[in-house]
Amino acid sequence: AEPLSFLGGVEIMTFAKISQVAHYAPSQVISNQDLSERMDTSDEWIASRTGIRKRHISQSESTSDLATEVARRLLEKSGLQADQLDFIFVATISPDSMMPSTAARVQAKIGASKAFVFDLTAACSGFVFALATAEKYIRSGQYKRGIVIGSETLSKVIDWEDRTTAVLFGDGAGGVLLEASEQQTFLAESLFSDGSRGEVLQSSSVGLSSPYSDKEEDKKYLSMDGRAVFDFAIRDVAKSIKHMLADAPVAVDEIDYFLLHQANDRILDKMAKKIGVDREKLPANMMEYGNTSAASIPILLSECVDQGLIKLDGSQTILLSGFGGGLTWGSLLVTI
Ligand code: ACO
Repeated sequence: AEPLSFLGGVEIMTFAKISQVAHYAPSQVISNQDLSERMDTSDEWIASRTGIRKRHISQSESTSDLATEVARRLLEKSGLQADQLDFIFVATISPDSMMPSTAARVQAKIGASKAFVFDLTAACSGFVFALATAEKYIRSGQYKRGIVIGSETLSKVIDWEDRTTAVLFGDGAGGVLLEASEQQTFLAESLFSDGSRGEVLQSSSVGLSSPYSDKEEDKKYLSMDGRAVFDFAIRDVAKSIKHMLADAPVAVDEIDYFLLHQANDRILDKMAKKIGVDREKLPANMMEYGNTSAASIPILLSECVDQGLIKLDGSQTILLSGFGGGLTWGSLLVTI
C-alpha cells in the first residue's frame, strides 16, 4: 500500500480501528405510562408514532459521570491504564459546563494524564463526527489510541411541560476505544452540515447579558419542528447514505448492520426501504432508551456487541449514521 501521509519527513502508514465498545445509562427508568401520569399523553400515542416505550432519566449523575463510567468500562474491557490514552473526545449537547469541557472532567476522573481532550458539538451526529475526527488523529501517525464517547443528560434541557418533545428523549452514554492498526477499517465517510436550517432543532441558547449589550433572552429548553426533522431524515440522510454506498468498496448487501441514530422507529422503516435493505439489518433500541442524541449510536453498537450480533473480530462491516440538529448528518462505513 502507498504511504498515507508524511509528518516531519517520516513516512507514516497507520490506520485506526474500533477495538472496544461500552455503554452506560442511569438506573432510573421512566415508562410511557409514568409520563402519562404527568402530562396529557399515552403509551399508545408515543409507541405507535415513535417506537419509544421507556427512557433512562438521571437522578443525580451528570453527563460527565455517565461518560466517565463508559471510559472506565472501556479501560477495564481492554486491560489498559488511563495514562495510555492519547486523547478523549466527548460528543454532547448537554455538557456539565462549557468550561471545563465534559471531556476534561472525564480525564480528571479517570486520571488520563497524558491525553488531550475536548468536546465536540454536532447534536445527534456528534458521535459520528467525533469518531471521524479521532480516526484522522490516529491516521496522522502522531497518536496511537484514544476514546470517543457520546454522552447526554437531555433530561435537563427538556421542557417537561411540553408533551411534543418531553416524550422523545432520554439520558445515556456510549463510546469506543480507537487504536492504531495495520489494517484499513474505515472504508468510507460522508459528513454534511446545513446551518441555514438550524432553527428546526434548538436548545440551550445563552443571550448577551453584559451592561454594554442589549439583553437577550436565554432559551434553555429544546424545541423542534418534528415534521421537518422527520422529512430531513428520510430525504437528505437517506440520499447521503445511498450516495456514499454507491462509491463504497463494499456492496450494500455485504454490509452486516446499519446502525442509525435512534430517533424514531418509523424513520428506520423508511430508511431501510430507501437504502434497499431488510429492516432486520437496522437494529433499534429507542424502545428502551428514547432518543439519546450523541449517545444513541454508541449505545446501540455496544448493545449489539453484548448480544453477539457484532463480534468485534474484524469480520463484519457496519454503517454508522447520525443526523440531527445543526442541521448535521454523516455516515461512516467501518470494518469491525
Ligand atoms: N401525546 C399525545 N399527543 C401528542 C403528543 C404526545 N406526546 N405530542 C403531540 N401530540 C398531538 C399533537 O398536539 C397533535 O394534536 P392535534 O392534531 O390535536 O394538534 C397530534 O398529536 C399530532 O401531532 P404531530 O406533531 O403532527 O405528530 P406527528 O405524527 O408528526 O408525530 C413526531 C410527531 C413523533 C415528533 C414526529 O414528527 C417525528 O417523529 N418527527 C421526527 C422528529 C424526531 O424524532 N425528533 C427527535 C429529535 S431530532 C433527531 O434526533 C434527529
